[in-house]
Amino acid sequence: MGEPSIPRHIAIVMDGNGRWATRRLLPRVAGHRQGVESLKRCIDACIARGVAVLTVFAFSSENWKRPADEVGGLFELLAKALAREVPRLHQSGVRLFFVGDRAGLSDKVAGGFGEAEALTAGNRKLTLNICFNYGGRWDIVQAAQGLAGRGEAITEASLRGSLSLSHVPDPDLLIRTGGEQRISNFLLWQCAYSELFFSDRLWPDFDEAALDAAITDYQRRERRFGSVPAPACVVGAS
Ligand code: IPE
Ligand code: IPE
Ligand code: MG
Repeated sequence: MGEPSIPRHIAIVMDGNGRWATRRLLPRVAGHRQGVESLKRCIDACIARGVAVLTVFAFSSENWKRPADEVGGLFELLAKALAREVPRLHQSGVRLFFVGDRAGLSDKVAGGFGEAEALTAGNRKLTLNICFNYGGRWDIVQAAQGLAGRGEAITEASLRGSLSLSHVPDPDLLIRTGGEQRISNFLLWQCAYSELFFSDRLWPDFDEAALDAAITDYQRRERRFGSVPAPACVVGAS
């Protein structure tokens, strides 16, 4: 048997920032700030382990339902993190994609996304998809509308190719931190055959050891994709 394989694509629902802060009697946005630090650590860990693609859920289509001060705090944090971290990510060889509905974002935020994508377009060390103002249902609808608008046939291949993650393979491993065991409108199409891993750790506490535990658990799974187990290797067979 060869070395256990590292998942090529890891997707993460980074949940639990609010509870992390509340437990410390801090405002929820302090949890989101710590969440950014946790994401930086996770990106470095993925690069070190040879993960090719990391996709993270940063702000969902439904997160607009939160109090205005929390939404405002998240956008402020995003703007600061972009200015501070994009040059560092570029140096580390990270290719950035911002995935989600840009129509619902200000020109300033959408412009920042475009600039970061253009700057990092030549990088190949890690593809980092940041899902922001993203929902799995939104993605399927925008893909279908695009095909219908162009008069193209809707097939599995054409729909797949019109989704906002068509530039990467489907996730091998989908992690959700924070103890909840649900998808919350994340990658509805793409996680059809992803291995799911739920961690009780709150996202700010999800460190390298927790990532390794998820990867080790993944390596013990048998992926069948609807088929039957691979035949056992018969020793001595010619
Ligand atoms: C996830 O953490 C981050 C975002 C949704 C932006 P939460 O803010 O949902 O944290 P909890 O689930 O309330 O603890
Ligand atoms: C999912 O977490 C969205 C992100 C992590 C960005 P939520 O906290 O919004 O999900 P629910 O409300 O618990 O389902
Ligand atoms: Mg949550």
